[in-house]
Amino acid sequence: MMRKIGVLTSGGDAPGMNAAVMSIARSAAAYGMPLIGIKHGYNGLLRKSTSIKDDLQELYLDTVLDIADQPGTYLRTARCEEFKDPKWREIAVQTLKAMEIDGLVVIGGDGSFQGAMRLCELGIPCIGIPGTIDNDLAYTEMTLGYETAVQVCTEAIRSHDRPHVVECMGRHCGDIALKAACATGSEIVVVPEVPWSVEEVASRLNKQIAKGNYRSTIVLAEGCWESMAPFDMYGFLTSHGKQCFEGEPMSAMRFASIMKRMCGMVEARSTVVGYTQRGALPVAKDSAFAFEAGNLAVRLLRDGISNQVIGVRQGKVFNMPIVDALKVEKHFRRDLYDLVNNL
Ligand code: ADP
Ligand code: F6P
Repeated sequence: MMRKIGVLTSGGDAPGMNAAVMSIARSAAAYGMPLIGIKHGYNGLLRKSTSIKDDLQELYLDTVLDIADQPGTYLRTARCEEFKDPKWREIAVQTLKAMEIDGLVVIGGDGSFQGAMRLCELGIPCIGIPGTIDNDLAYTEMTLGYETAVQVCTEAIRSHDRPHVVECMGRHCGDIALKAACATGSEIVVVPEVPWSVEEVASRLNKQIAKGNYRSTIVLAEGCWESMAPFDMYGFLTSHGKQCFEGEPMSAMRFASIMKRMCGMVEARSTVVGYTQRGALPVAKDSAFAFEAGNLAVRLLRDGISNQVIGVRQGKVFNMPIVDALKVEKHFRRDLYDLVNNL
């Protein structure tokens, strides 16, 4: 019998997290279960703050109804390295028991789900809701925040008469960059999943220029530097009249500078979209998923089902065991990548 449940948001913040918390709060109230919000990801369970209200807070419907349309996450989110250590997880279990929290909803990405799995092993029923802009969870067609992140990137992709390098987030996953490139008809996309070289991108850009297109957009996924062939940036830039520091890492700004010089352009610009992707108001698709996912999470806990994650398969919200979900391998849409780069 679930008397009281908890909810936390963990990892990077993702648009739709508040909407999910709102749905969880409404569902918990409807099924007669008080709800405790745990602050700063798993940190709140480790009781590191001097004041309890900085760690744990009862979530009343009034408070929660006000946050649903706010960006970010009201519960705050954070990473919590200590939680990977079994000693600290015991403290988390003690906190949950002391607060009489019988089940937990964890909103986050694969790392947060690993944490939820460990808590289940310690006898705390958990349900995971995928909350990450990266879309790097292969078991589900949707993760909260991805659609919004793509939308924000498409708004950053604007260019008139010069090449524009736009860097999107996504950690090791190129999905945000690829979808934003498709949505904007960008000419070049560079992702961590496909090895590439600076010279090859310059050659693609040159082909566009030869066709009379002086405003090509190059969309980069932030993880793309991992799959870049070695390039002597210092040697190239200093020999082309541009100051550079030896050992300086490649960046979108430097990359634009290199493209400008390799392709004989007068100017090339760069934009790093960054945290605006995470701090945006969720698009309707993300908040609608949050609504269904939040309710399903509470129903599962109420019905005594745990150690599950929620996702979308063939357009329908479903649940499956966390352990199986984390084993599903991600397949990159190479066909779309080729389409963008070869059209
Ligand atoms: P995401 O959840 O978005 O993938 P992270 O990988 O940074 O983000 O993980 C978020 C948090 O989840 C970590 O800071 C930690 O508290 C917890 N976590 C990650 N991996 C594990 C693990 N193997 N065991 C226990 N907790 C973990
Ligand atoms: O996982 C979400 C994400 O925004 C990634 O796209 C990015 O690589 C990472 O988090 C950035 O992490 P931080 O919050 O530590 O800057």
